[in-house]
Amino acid sequence: MEEQIYLNGAYIPRTNANISIMDRGFLFGDGVYELIPLYGKKIFLLDKHLKRLENSLNLIGMKNSGFDINNTEDIIKTLVDKNKYEDYFFYIHITRGVQNTRQHIYPEKIKPTVLIMGENYSVFNKDEISKGFRACIQSDFRWTKSNIKSISLLGSVLLKNYASQNGFYETLLIRDNKLTEGSASNVFIVKDNKIFTPKLSVDLLPGVTRDLLINLLRENGLDVFEKDVTESDLKIADEVWCCSSTNFVAPIIQIDDITINNGIVGNIALRTYDLVRDFISAY
Ligand code: PDD
Repeated sequence: MEEQIYLNGAYIPRTNANISIMDRGFLFGDGVYELIPLYGKKIFLLDKHLKRLENSLNLIGMKNSGFDINNTEDIIKTLVDKNKYEDYFFYIHITRGVQNTRQHIYPEKIKPTVLIMGENYSVFNKDEISKGFRACIQSDFRWTKSNIKSISLLGSVLLKNYASQNGFYETLLIRDNKLTEGSASNVFIVKDNKIFTPKLSVDLLPGVTRDLLINLLRENGLDVFEKDVTESDLKIADEVWCCSSTNFVAPIIQIDDITINNGIVGNIALRTYDLVRDFISAY
């Protein structure tokens, strides 16, 4: 049977799913999203993802959009049953909806478009993690509401493609001499056995993985500080890693032409990877 997705209340084959050209998501990138992992058929940290989704909806004025995000769990479970997913990812995409004319101003009453579908992202294995990745630095030219998980991803798309076209895994972003995040990840650094990650602000996404790592590391006796990280802190760090729901620890061993930790993945990054793996196994 062809893979089923959820669109506006119906479960339909992916190839039959269509949206109107008048959808504000299509015309304006007017909407928000979430990406939630599924491990061994269990939805990972669903509450945290739904809380962030609710926050994103509130921040774009879609508080009373009509879609009850508490239905998400049932929808995902139905998709898991229908498609026999095990280790997978769920993409949730909510746009403001369809309007008859193309205009910036949205009407008060508009029905959101809700798409939920499985996606099979490539995840690095331990061998790949242990070899590490290369990153580059670019100025963070995205907007100043990066705490919203907006579907308007042109900035991130350009920045991630800059990395991939130049042989890097990720682009690390600097604004006002401070590290914000990666183009599709949050960033941690280690200096003298202390762990730092930029504090939450409108300049970065409050990553669910970031939050998980902070808690796991602290529970295991490591010092984690949420504070500003400058470009030079980044460049002289003992360890650097990126994290996201798709790759929870991606160690960086080179930033542009600067080698980190002699090009060897650090012990704290590897330990963090193991801590998350154990947490997932026990989940
Ligand atoms: N993005 N920062 C940005 C800009 C991101 O796009 C992501 C993840 C993160 C990490 O958030 P989380 O740990 O909650 O996944 C931080 C996903 C993977 C995506 O857009 O596909």
